[in-house]
Amino acid sequence: MSLRVLVTGAAGFIGSHTCDQLLAAGHSVLGADDLSAGRLGNLTDARTRPAFGFERVDLLVPGALERLVADYRPDAIVHLAALVSVRQSIENPDRNFALNVGLTHAVAEAARRSGVARLVFASSAAVYGDNPALPLAESAPFGPLSPYGAAKAASEQLLLGHARAYGFVARCQRYFNVYGPRQDPASPYSGVIAIFSRLMRRGESPVVYGDGGQSRDFVSVHDVARANVIAATRPGLASGVVNICSGQQTSLLDLVAALARATGHTGAVRCEAAKPGDIRHSLGDPSAARAELGFKAEISLGNGLAELVAGSSG
Ligand code: UD1
Repeated sequence: MSLRVLVTGAAGFIGSHTCDQLLAAGHSVLGADDLSAGRLGNLTDARTRPAFGFERVDLLVPGALERLVADYRPDAIVHLAALVSVRQSIENPDRNFALNVGLTHAVAEAARRSGVARLVFASSAAVYGDNPALPLAESAPFGPLSPYGAAKAASEQLLLGHARAYGFVARCQRYFNVYGPRQDPASPYSGVIAIFSRLMRRGESPVVYGDGGQSRDFVSVHDVARANVIAATRPGLASGVVNICSGQQTSLLDLVAALARATGHTGAVRCEAAKPGDIRHSLGDPSAARAELGFKAEISLGNGLAELVAGSSG
């Protein structure tokens, strides 16, 4: 069945891929974005589709979101608009609170008033903090190390409470380290794969903060977008929280070696002091997403890096 889906943060890295996959699956999409971090160029394909509409809008402006939801009457909202960087949340906790908590509440309220049946929320592995009990299952306690992680944890609870009280479905997706085309490689706030792949393609040396023994669970944005489509559109889902991860642990030094193979880079890496607050190891347990959504990440890191290096966008 074809649904109407509102995607906030539609011009962003994850948002634009989510729009593309929703459209490919035959759904209608209204994308909303203020273009403060997202780029219209990310929606070049989507904007050629008749089933796609776009509104440039600052959702923090009172009434803007309310009007959008009341006019479009979506079946589902995929809420991805956010302050996306841990470091930015530490530099500007007020903006983090406004965007990553306040706006979530506003989305939940707009959904309630317009009778939207389902809400999908971009949560994060940052809610776990530096928990050594790997792999991390959703039952692990919250332990955020930043305003960003705390806001994501708070937003999950806001949505689940709203959903129970007012009878809609809230799906919280705890993304691990997402990478892939359209992640801005020039931003210092970007993910390590975007930054390293650009430098190494240019023959420049990446800077490793710390000894490179830290590890992450990298997941391709194509897999993440697919998980969003399932969460937004699969009939019969109940509210819930799942990790969106690969379940594979990769150290930074292994990542550099894989990128060296993909790019032909032969130079050395430079090591600098570890960043304060940096998590040592992060690895998700993917089994709940499999059980609840039927979702399993399919793109290996090797294939994902090869796609990134072959593409021209970074
Ligand atoms: C990432 C996400 C964050 C998400 C979290 C979930 C990004 C930008 N951040 O944070 O939104 O909530 O996962 O756990 O995707 N590093 C270097 N050199 C660099 C850049 C980074 O050594 O030039 C290191 C960092 O110190 C860190 C690792 O690479 O140890 C990963 O960093 P990063 O990609 O920024 O992601 P996270 O901090 O894990």
